[in-house]
Amino acid sequence: MKTSEKLIQRYCAAERINHWIVAVCFVLLAISGLAFFYPAFFWLTGVFGTPQLARIVHPFVGVVMVLAFARQFFRYAHHNLINKEDVTWMMSVKEVMKGNEVGDIGRYNGGQKGMFWVMVLCMILLLVSGVIAWRPYFAGYFPIPIIRVALLVHAASALVLIASIIVHVYAALWVQGTIRAMVEGVVTHAWARKHHPRWFRQVTGKETGHS
Ligand code: HEM
Repeated sequence: MKTSEKLIQRYCAAERINHWIVAVCFVLLAISGLAFFYPAFFWLTGVFGTPQLARIVHPFVGVVMVLAFARQFFRYAHHNLINKEDVTWMMSVKEVMKGNEVGDIGRYNGGQKGMFWVMVLCMILLLVSGVIAWRPYFAGYFPIPIIRVALLVHAASALVLIASIIVHVYAALWVQGTIRAMVEGVVTHAWARKHHPRWFRQVTGKETGHS
């Protein structure tokens, strides 16, 4: 077996199931949410069968997504603390786009960490605004102007999250070998050495050219 084909475990089965629950809920919510947002997308309510069902089910799926994401938050928050090196990575993103990695990257790079915190912020805003606007259970406790502001915040944070997830998926597809981490749970030594050299050294104890 070539060294480049040796594998490292990046995510266990529980982590992958957790991630895909979030992803499936997100897709269902984005489709049904866009249907409520703009009349031209109304037909998308069909994702839950009928418009009425979509309106009833959407908030419950939202709660499932937030709970599953909360599990991800507690698993990964400590890996996503932003340091000086991540700021350098973010400032050099043009170089990264050319395919040249910048710095001695650990488990996640500056872009992934920034994305993680955008996801966290959007989830919190979506949850709070969604509960305030949730008829018939909670909206009755709030005055109409507050519900209107909540709906504005809900739509804005959903659009930011949708745009962010497009980038997240694009990056996962663009960096060859990354999808495998979330499907099979493993990455090659070559992938880890190239994209996350410090993490590679930590898990294997091997040198990578960075010190
Ligand atoms: C819909 C299609 C999606 C695909 C194809 C996808 C793909 C991936 C892949 C390949 C990774 C592993 C990256 C690595 O280890 O370097 C990952 C990590 C992750 N994904 Fe996704 N993902 C999707 C949706 C989502 C959604 C909707 C969320 C949450 C809103 C999400 C949250 C995360 C988080 C929190 C991580 C761990 C990264 C970190 O902690 O910084 N993903 N995803």
